[in-house]
Amino acid sequence: MTTKQANLNEFSLNQLNRRQFLATTAAAGAGLALKQSVIAQSSSGDKRRRYALVGTGGRSSMFREAVLQTYASSCQMVGFCDINLGRLKLAQAKARSVANVEVPIFEAKDFDRMVRETRPDVVIVTTKDSTHDQYIIRAMELGCDVITEKPMTTDETKCRAIIETQRKTGRKVTVTFNYRYSPHRTQVKDVLMSGVIGDILSVDFHWLLNTVHGADYFRRWHSNKANSGGLMVHKATHHFDLVNWWLSAVPVSVLAQGQREFYTPQMAKRLGLKSHHERCHTCPEKAKCTFALDLAGNARLKELYLDQEKYDGYFRDRCVFRPDIDIEDTMNVIVKYNTGATLSYSLNAFNAWEGYHIAFNGTKGRLEHGIQEKVTVFGDGSIPGAVKPGGTYIRVYPLRSPAYEVPLWPSNSGGHGGGDTVMLDDIFLPEKKADKYQRASDQLGGAYSILTGVAANHSFRTGKTVEIASLVPNLGMPKYAPMPSSTDPVPMPPSAS
Ligand SMILES: NC(=O)c1ccc[n+]([C@@H]2O[C@H](COP(=O)([O-])OP(=O)(O)OC[C@H]3O[C@@H](n4cnc5c(N)ncnc54)[C@H](O)[C@@H]3O)[C@@H](O)[C@H]2O)c1
Repeated sequence: MTTKQANLNEFSLNQLNRRQFLATTAAAGAGLALKQSVIAQSSSGDKRRRYALVGTGGRSSMFREAVLQTYASSCQMVGFCDINLGRLKLAQAKARSVANVEVPIFEAKDFDRMVRETRPDVVIVTTKDSTHDQYIIRAMELGCDVITEKPMTTDETKCRAIIETQRKTGRKVTVTFNYRYSPHRTQVKDVLMSGVIGDILSVDFHWLLNTVHGADYFRRWHSNKANSGGLMVHKATHHFDLVNWWLSAVPVSVLAQGQREFYTPQMAKRLGLKSHHERCHTCPEKAKCTFALDLAGNARLKELYLDQEKYDGYFRDRCVFRPDIDIEDTMNVIVKYNTGATLSYSLNAFNAWEGYHIAFNGTKGRLEHGIQEKVTVFGDGSIPGAVKPGGTYIRVYPLRSPAYEVPLWPSNSGGHGGGDTVMLDDIFLPEKKADKYQRASDQLGGAYSILTGVAANHSFRTGKTVEIASLVPNLGMPKYAPMPSSTDPVPMPPSAS
């Protein structure tokens, strides 16, 4: 991969051939006719909530299908926006085929025009991580609420700008933390809230990505920190959010170490390859590299990425052993929380299995929980983050008493441990149900979920402890459910004999 090609990934909108874009859009009957159909809907007394979506890649399909199909009686899609004309047209064609509607498409530089002309109530942001801030902020300035994929953004400067704009505009920001909604992670929250292990003093959390799913981060835009914030932000935002939410606490300081040990040019040679290469599609050694991704061999990956390369030069299958990768694959973090609790966390991206172990140490006992996930390559048609049957446990170890298994709540089969479907109901159903677990997250939850990873990125470089308040001061507390307090009486444990 040359620098030039990498820069194409960091797409400059001006590079898109605008004449080609407009010509094709018009030829597809997309432009004026479609806009008229949307405007006609709005002036015909259609009371459904209006959504526009920016970023029409792999993740967007969940929101697109939700708005166009599952929740169509109360929601409508009024516009798609992206830098890639091919993916825009694909999204438009999918909308046509599943819901028989014409959704207008807009070049990213015409985001403001999309909002003016299609008048969405809510903008859904599913672009590359480092670009979330510009759409979250602009959507709020133009009078829209926002639903954004995680991570809310990738660094503290962008985070401060989002928080300031939200304060100024008063718009609603929802950050989609699907992991909170998966039944067994909600159940862990329920057990912790019950007080059975008392108030929590420390947490050990170890997340494992394997050499299929883990490797996939090293092929895509995620493999450069400027795009994703590295795995500390892109991936661990889920994990740090879970800890914040499970504890109803926010991080105060972070000390971390991180390096890249496995996805390196040296490892390509140790695995018997002559060297790293540019990408799998044209790799001379792909027949003997079990890390190679066959974009042409998977219909979904082909239509979403390979067939659309001509529009922006983005390769979805870059070599995982390239030297220009600048994210870590081996990370260790220590976090102190405002409740006094501490977290010891690790994330490794080259493991033998996929999933996590977590242990909460409380004043009355210990809770251990873990989930093994099935392995996916994102966007290939398999369910992302699906749970392996038999791979989930919740165990309580009361002080000086026998441990027991907590019977698991029924699960469901949706993406990310079943969290996706429960979350979509919470977001898109018109009647909001009271939620004692406070699973919906706003910009404050979004901010705290990234700031541990942002601080870890600083700590990787300096070796120093980073105070969260030095990154974004005066954030305030997100809404979290009440937890056992550190001033509650604690029963004397049974005698040790
Ligand atoms: N919550 C989850 O479990 C989960 C799972 C997967 C992805 N995600 C998140 O969803 C988002 C999208 O990820 P993805 O896997 O779909 O990636 P993707 O590469 O498939 O799609 C990203 C899309 O953004 C577009 N884009 C890039 N720069 C843009 C810009 N400046 N303006 C407009 N569009 C731009 C690309 O052309 C592409 O269509 C990311 O933020 C990711 O972190 C969340």
